[in-house]
Parts: sequence; C-alpha cells; structure tokens
Amino acid sequence: MILSETSLSAETTEVRDQTVKRAKITIVGAGNVGASCAVWAAQKELGDIVLIDIPEFADKTAGKALDLLQCGPIERFDCRIVGTADYAHAKDSDVVIITAGVPRKPGMSRDDLVQTNVKIVGDVAVQVAKVAPNAVLIVVSNPLDAMVYTAWKKTGFPTNRVVGQAGCLDIARYRTFISMELGCSVEDITALLLGGHGDDMVPLPSYTSVAGIPVTQLIAPDRLQAIIERAKMGGGELVKLMGTSAYYAPASGTIQMAEAVIKDKKRILPCAAYCNKEYGVGGYFVGVPAVLGAGGVEKVIEVKLNDDEKKLFATSVSHVKELVGVAEGFLR
Ligand code: NAI
Ligand code: 2OP
Repeated sequence: MILSETSLSAETTEVRDQTVKRAKITIVGAGNVGASCAVWAAQKELGDIVLIDIPEFADKTAGKALDLLQCGPIERFDCRIVGTADYAHAKDSDVVIITAGVPRKPGMSRDDLVQTNVKIVGDVAVQVAKVAPNAVLIVVSNPLDAMVYTAWKKTGFPTNRVVGQAGCLDIARYRTFISMELGCSVEDITALLLGGHGDDMVPLPSYTSVAGIPVTQLIAPDRLQAIIERAKMGGGELVKLMGTSAYYAPASGTIQMAEAVIKDKKRILPCAAYCNKEYGVGGYFVGVPAVLGAGGVEKVIEVKLNDDEKKLFATSVSHVKELVGVAEGFLR
C-alpha cells in the first residue's frame, strides 16, 4: 500500500499538524566537531539539522549533510538535514551550536587560538542573532570560556540563552579514566568539575562517587590524583595522538546539552554558564553545575567547596578573566 497525504483522513492530518513540531538545530562550523555533532543529533533524532560553513566549503558542507541524511534508513532516524553557507536556513532555530574556528595543533594551547577565533565566533554570532533571535546558543569553539563571552557580547542574548560546552567533555574524560581504573561501568560514576576549559580546570573528588560510594574509598589518593591530572590534560593527550583536537567526545558532550534543552529535561550538567554573584565570579562564563532546560541555563547550582577547592577554582577563574580581557581587546 502506498501511503500518501491524500490517504490520510482530514482528522488524522490535523492531529499530525498540531502535534508534530520538530526542533531545529543549527550547527555553525561543519568541521570535525560540527559534523560529529550532526551525527549524534541525527542518531538521537533530536530534530531537523542545518550545517553551516564558509561559502568556499558550501558544496562540501552540502555533501556532508546529504551523506548523513542517507544514514537515516539504516540508523532509523527521520529528519531533514541541510548543508549550506546560507544563514537563511537557520531561521528560527531552537538551538544553535557554534563550532566554527580553528582547532589547536600539537604544541599549541587553547589560548593560542584566541585572536583568530574571536573574529570568527564574533562574526558567526552576529549572523545567528539576525536569523535565530530566540535560540539557545551552545558555544564550543576555543578558547571556550572567552568564546562564550564573545558570542554573548555579539548576540546581545540574555545570559541564560548563551552557554559553553566543556564540562560535559571534561567530566566524561574523568569518568572514563575512573572506570578504566576500577573496571566498572562508566554509567555508575557521577562526578563534578568546575572552572574554565583549560589545564587548570577543577575536577572534584569530593563530589565524585561510584554507585553512591565516595571515590576516595575506592581509589588511593596518588592514583586518583594521577587520574585527575590525566583528565585535565585530556585535550592535549588527544592533540598529540591525532595532530588535531578531539571531536567525537566533544560533540557527544555538546549534543548531551542540546538534548537537555530541546527536550526540556532540566538536566544538571557542568556548563560554562554566566556567573555574577554565583561563586563570587563577577560576570564571566565559567564551568559550574547548571540546570539545562528549554530556557537554556535555568539555574546555576552553588556547591560548598573546601579551602583547597576554593583556591583551585579561583586560579582557574582568574585565568578565564585574563583570557576574556585578551578577547575583549580583539573585539573592539
Ligand atoms: P575544524 O577545523 O575541523 O572545523 C572548524 C570548521 O569551522 C571548518 O570547517 C571551518 O571552515 C569552519 N569555519 C571557520 N570559519 C568559519 C566561519 N566564519 N563561519 C562558519 N564556519 C567557519 O575544527 P574542529 O576540530 O571541528 O574544532 C572546532 C573548534 O572547536 C576549535 O576552535 C576547537 O578548538 C574547538 N573545540 C572545542 C572543544 C570543547 O570542548 N569546547 C573540544 C574540541 C574542539
Ligand atoms: C579538547 O579538550 C581541544 O578543547 C579541546 O579536546
């Protein structure tokens, strides 16, 4: 039997029209991270996907979108996927993910990217604000904390609708290494991490547990410290191995956030969220646990820290502030 629109009764069609509204996710920057975001989003059937890159790569981007679309029959997802250089396709997106910019190469730190990426992210943010003024913006480009700030300044969006992805990735690395150490499922490990997306990020053993058991009862202090250090340097470890920065896990973390927004899940995830009075940060985006839902960052959760943790967090925040100062210089 061939099912056509006309074979549906008027009543059925009406119900479909009222109930089916797909979310729209635009991903700007269709490189390694952006294209991987599209794959995870399609696989989760989160909504229609628009991939945007520079005009020189318009055909390549259209090709990536078509290639991914053709996975639908195998992976069993239904969505529209468009690859383009034209922002008109991003009109009224619910979520916009920015991965545009250059990644680091071996020997570079994330901070080395600031001058190039401020310009790129700033330009992209302006375009996004014109076509998708109500979107929740998830920034991924590095140096992350300064790029979220840049996107916020350039869009003029309220702070709850601008957020950065770093913590979901960093915490996933930390949880992976703990599971490798213990030989247990990654699913049973919950953890918390604060601060900027730099080598001075702050994984918190005091908020890490394995099936409810404090991690400090399961892993000796020196081993745990080694795991923390590996997680902190996790980005660099992959740059050395791959010659460019990681993309599968960064994209997975990004889509975890997008899913929380699109499905209004109210997930508590470590995000680069705007903190003013919170943690005494004073108006910067830094990694903190936050409730993510349809409104974007709906709440920043403040947890108690001991003196050592406070010191580490303060160091990380001061690095974020320094970097934002540099970014602001290029923004003018
Ligand atoms: P990539 O080089 O594979 O892709 C970047 C894409 O951005 C390219 O396709 C490029 O043509 C595009 N692009 C450049 N300027 C643009 C513009 N004005 N408009 C639209 N598109 C533009 O790089 P990759 O590996 O995908 O990384 C992207 C960014 O994400 C980098 O800054 C990287 O450091 C960052 N990153 C952040 C992570 C995080 O956890 N926050 C993790 C991994 C990467
Ligand atoms: C990462 O942590 C480079 O930020 C990127 O893999």
